[in-house]
Amino acid sequence: MKKILVVGNGGREHTLLWKLHQDDPSLRLFATRPNAGMAELAQEVDLAPTDVDGLASWAQGAEVDLVVVGPEAPLASGLVDRLSARRIPAFGPTESAARIEASKAFAKELMDDAGVPTAGYRTFTDPAAAEAHIREQGPPIVVKASGLAAGKGAIVCSQVEEAVEAAREMLSGEAFGDAGGVVVVEECMEGEELSVFGLADGTDVLLLLPSQDHKRVGERDTGPNTGGMGAYAPLSFVSAEFLEEVRRRIFLPTLEALVARGAPFRGILYAGLMLTEEGPKVVEFNCRFGDPEAQVVLPLLDSPLLDLLIPVASGSRLDADGVRWRSGAALTTVVASPGYPGSYPNGLQMELDQELFSDPEILLFHAGTAREERGSGGPGALLTDGGRVAAVTGLGETLEEARDRSLRGAEAVRFEGANFRRDIGWREFSRSEAERP
Ligand code: AMP
Ligand code: GLY
Repeated sequence: MKKILVVGNGGREHTLLWKLHQDDPSLRLFATRPNAGMAELAQEVDLAPTDVDGLASWAQGAEVDLVVVGPEAPLASGLVDRLSARRIPAFGPTESAARIEASKAFAKELMDDAGVPTAGYRTFTDPAAAEAHIREQGPPIVVKASGLAAGKGAIVCSQVEEAVEAAREMLSGEAFGDAGGVVVVEECMEGEELSVFGLADGTDVLLLLPSQDHKRVGERDTGPNTGGMGAYAPLSFVSAEFLEEVRRRIFLPTLEALVARGAPFRGILYAGLMLTEEGPKVVEFNCRFGDPEAQVVLPLLDSPLLDLLIPVASGSRLDADGVRWRSGAALTTVVASPGYPGSYPNGLQMELDQELFSDPEILLFHAGTAREERGSGGPGALLTDGGRVAAVTGLGETLEEARDRSLRGAEAVRFEGANFRRDIGWREFSRSEAERP
């Protein structure tokens, strides 16, 4: 019986646990400070995901067979290096390979060297130099904190003054602390975005089903950026030829450039792409599964997840024929706390329509949830505990079916001020409407 530790405690990590359990209910699963949904599948390890030394000692003592790292922060802090030093198989890149996400300046330089298409850029540490460059380039222009900023470090500016101010706030440390010490100023690209996850073994890569995230809080993609309010897969406009081109022109040269820097990438290399008039270009790389994209890609995966994770974690080569997908589509709707992505309350009482979630085509993934502390007796009440509270994935033969199930599920996650978008997948639906005779 295998023992597996999942590090992290959001919607993506609940989905990882769900898939592992679904594939093999005999697995013994553990998770760091699990949310209420994860706690039903995994035993709690009371350590923070970023306590890399604590986790390495715990994993050794518990003799786990595999550690799967969900979020970027522990990867960037060297959790996989610590585990490897103790010969514990771990899925995720080392600290030096995780720099592809943890330092946008590093990622841009790497792409330039490798000839990977991306927006033109310059990096700055001096506000006056950044300002002069922004004024010279003019709007629209994109200003990014180089370090990790929880998905909120990129500002697309339509006004020069807005860009100058954004760069100043980042460089002074006001906006993102140390993460803003280096600023990347980029050319603004235009086009539709998609997320592609590549399962990488250091030199080779297998692309998973492409998906599309919805980052803005409001319907029709309005309002401030969030961690992601919903996603769907697959995308009708992505052909096998297009994906092969993305693999050859974007993933393989990037992996090669990382090898040349002594930082081979093993794990999920996530490319955020924009389809520009000049072809696909990289908006950003991440070193992990996307959240909420994992909530649609993993439920469509028919192959056992461990068959993909174990070869990569144990340093062997990928089996390129090893991935099967179920037919149909998946769509996930994120239910968020009132006020999110600004400040929001925690500890709101939640009610779930359990009967609805017994439908195998309506999957409830918890994100920010917790159980009320109880001295004794049964489990305490379910409470909100974060900005993104849950993601409800609908599955179906068509995207319409998947959406209807997802929305029914989102309505069945009840708490005061619960907020969700009803238009996830709108680009795909307008595409198919336009294409209908
Ligand atoms: P990032 O944190 O780099 O993923 O950026 C967040 C979002 O900002 C992206 O999903 C894009 O919508 C937008 N963005 C980032 N860089 C650019 C760019 N160079 N041109 C246009 N939009 C961008
Ligand atoms: N959904 C965007 C991300 O995971 O970074």
